[in-house]
Amino acid sequence: MDLVTAAAQVRERAWAPYSRFKVGAAIRADSGAVYVGCNVENVAYPEGTCAEAGAIAAMVAGGDTRIAEIAVIADSPEPVPCCGGCRQKIAEFAAGGVTVTLATTDGKRKSLTVAELLPGVFTAAHMDRT
Ligand code: THU
Repeated sequence: MDLVTAAAQVRERAWAPYSRFKVGAAIRADSGAVYVGCNVENVAYPEGTCAEAGAIAAMVAGGDTRIAEIAVIADSPEPVPCCGGCRQKIAEFAAGGVTVTLATTDGKRKSLTVAELLPGVFTAAHMDRT
Protein backbone atom coordinates (compact mmCIF):
# COMPACT_ATOMS: atom_id res chain seq x y z
CA MET A 1 0.00 0.00 0.00
CA ASP A 2 1.10 3.56 -0.71
CA LEU A 3 2.57 4.94 2.51
CA VAL A 4 0.86 8.32 2.23
CA THR A 5 -2.50 6.54 1.87
CA ALA A 6 -1.77 4.45 4.96
CA ALA A 7 -0.83 7.59 6.89
CA ALA A 8 -3.99 9.38 5.69
CA GLN A 9 -6.17 6.50 6.83
CA VAL A 10 -4.73 6.29 10.33
CA ARG A 11 -4.82 10.09 10.62
CA GLU A 12 -8.62 9.81 10.83
CA ARG A 13 -8.18 8.00 14.15
CA ALA A 14 -6.02 10.69 15.73
CA TRP A 15 -7.08 11.86 19.17
CA ALA A 16 -6.57 15.60 18.92
CA PRO A 17 -9.40 17.35 20.82
CA TYR A 18 -7.08 20.12 22.08
CA SER A 19 -5.14 21.19 18.99
CA ARG A 20 -7.74 19.88 16.51
CA PHE A 21 -4.70 19.06 14.36
CA LYS A 22 -4.78 15.43 13.31
CA VAL A 23 -1.57 13.82 12.07
CA GLY A 24 -0.95 10.36 10.61
CA ALA A 25 2.34 8.57 10.04
CA ALA A 26 3.22 5.34 8.24
CA ILE A 27 6.49 3.44 8.21
CA ARG A 28 7.62 0.76 5.80
CA ALA A 29 10.16 -1.32 7.69
CA ASP A 30 13.04 -3.17 6.06
CA SER A 31 10.95 -6.36 6.37
CA GLY A 32 8.31 -4.79 4.10
CA ALA A 33 5.73 -4.54 6.87
CA VAL A 34 3.85 -1.24 7.21
CA TYR A 35 3.24 0.29 10.64
CA VAL A 36 1.01 3.27 11.32
CA GLY A 37 0.48 5.78 14.10
CA CYS A 38 -1.51 8.90 14.88
CA ASN A 39 -1.12 11.68 17.40
CA VAL A 40 -2.75 10.98 20.75
CA GLU A 41 -3.25 14.10 22.86
CA ASN A 42 -3.99 14.30 26.56
CA VAL A 43 -5.70 16.85 28.77
CA ALA A 44 -2.33 17.06 30.53
CA TYR A 45 -0.87 18.54 27.34
CA PRO A 46 2.78 17.41 27.59
CA GLU A 47 1.61 13.80 27.85
CA GLY A 48 0.42 13.83 24.24
CA THR A 49 2.34 11.85 21.66
CA CYS A 50 3.08 12.55 17.99
CA ALA A 51 1.98 10.38 15.08
CA GLU A 52 5.59 9.49 14.27
CA ALA A 53 6.19 8.25 17.82
CA GLY A 54 3.09 6.05 17.58
CA ALA A 55 4.22 4.52 14.30
CA ILE A 56 7.70 3.87 15.68
CA ALA A 57 6.24 2.20 18.79
CA ALA A 58 4.03 0.01 16.59
CA MET A 59 7.06 -0.93 14.47
CA VAL A 60 9.17 -1.96 17.44
CA ALA A 61 6.25 -3.84 19.02
CA GLY A 62 5.77 -5.61 15.68
CA GLY A 63 9.34 -6.87 15.71
CA ASP A 64 10.99 -4.46 13.26
CA THR A 65 13.73 -1.99 14.09
CA ARG A 66 14.76 -0.50 10.73
CA ILE A 67 12.82 2.11 8.80
CA ALA A 68 13.01 1.83 5.00
CA GLU A 69 10.63 4.72 4.31
CA ILE A 70 8.31 7.00 6.33
CA ALA A 71 5.39 9.27 5.45
CA VAL A 72 3.60 11.89 7.54
CA ILE A 73 0.36 13.67 6.66
CA ALA A 74 -1.69 16.52 8.13
CA ASP A 75 -4.36 18.98 7.06
CA SER A 76 -2.02 21.94 6.75
CA PRO A 77 -1.32 24.58 4.08
CA GLU A 78 2.15 23.14 3.48
CA PRO A 79 3.61 19.71 4.35
CA VAL A 80 4.28 19.78 8.10
CA PRO A 81 7.85 19.05 9.15
CA CYS A 82 8.27 16.54 11.97
CA CYS A 83 8.98 18.12 15.36
CA GLY A 84 12.53 18.08 16.70
CA GLY A 85 11.91 15.20 19.07
CA CYS A 86 10.44 13.05 16.32
CA ARG A 87 13.41 13.77 14.07
CA GLN A 88 15.68 12.23 16.68
CA LYS A 89 13.26 9.32 17.19
CA ILE A 90 13.23 8.61 13.44
CA ALA A 91 17.04 8.84 13.26
CA GLU A 92 17.30 6.11 15.91
CA PHE A 93 15.86 3.60 13.42
CA ALA A 94 16.69 5.03 9.98
CA ALA A 95 19.81 5.54 7.90
CA GLY A 96 20.54 9.08 6.74
CA GLY A 97 19.49 8.29 3.18
CA VAL A 98 15.99 7.09 4.08
CA THR A 99 13.22 9.06 2.39
CA VAL A 100 10.75 11.03 4.51
CA THR A 101 7.61 12.08 2.64
CA LEU A 102 5.65 14.96 4.15
CA ALA A 103 2.14 15.35 2.76
CA THR A 104 -0.99 17.45 3.09
CA THR A 105 -4.54 16.15 2.88
CA ASP A 106 -5.07 18.26 -0.25
CA GLY A 107 -2.29 16.54 -2.15
CA LYS A 108 0.94 18.47 -1.59
CA ARG A 109 4.04 16.38 -1.05
CA LYS A 110 7.58 17.14 -0.05
CA SER A 111 10.29 14.50 0.11
CA LEU A 112 13.59 14.78 1.93
CA THR A 113 16.09 12.45 3.56
CA VAL A 114 16.51 11.73 7.25
CA ALA A 115 19.92 13.44 7.07
CA GLU A 116 18.28 16.57 5.66
CA LEU A 117 15.58 16.38 8.33
CA LEU A 118 18.11 16.23 11.16
CA PRO A 119 21.54 17.60 10.28
CA GLY A 120 24.05 17.14 13.09
CA VAL A 121 22.16 14.17 14.56
CA PHE A 122 23.25 13.02 18.02
CA THR A 123 24.55 9.45 17.83
CA ALA A 124 26.12 6.89 20.17
CA ALA A 125 29.51 7.89 18.73
CA HIS A 126 29.18 11.22 20.54
CA MET A 127 29.39 9.37 23.85
CA ASP A 128 32.53 7.45 22.91
CA ARG A 129 35.81 8.91 24.23
CA THR A 130 37.97 5.90 23.30
N1 THU B 1 2.16 16.54 15.70
C1 THU B 1 2.49 15.29 15.23
O1 THU B 1 1.83 14.29 15.58
N2 THU B 1 3.51 15.18 14.35
C2 THU B 1 4.18 16.22 13.81
O2 THU B 1 5.07 16.01 12.99
C3 THU B 1 3.84 17.60 14.20
C4 THU B 1 2.91 17.72 15.35
C5 THU B 1 1.01 16.65 16.60
C6 THU B 1 1.33 16.89 18.04
C7 THU B 1 0.04 17.55 18.53
O3 THU B 1 -0.89 16.53 18.86
C8 THU B 1 -0.47 18.29 17.31
O4 THU B 1 0.20 17.74 16.19
C9 THU B 1 -0.25 19.79 17.36
O5 THU B 1 1.07 20.08 17.65
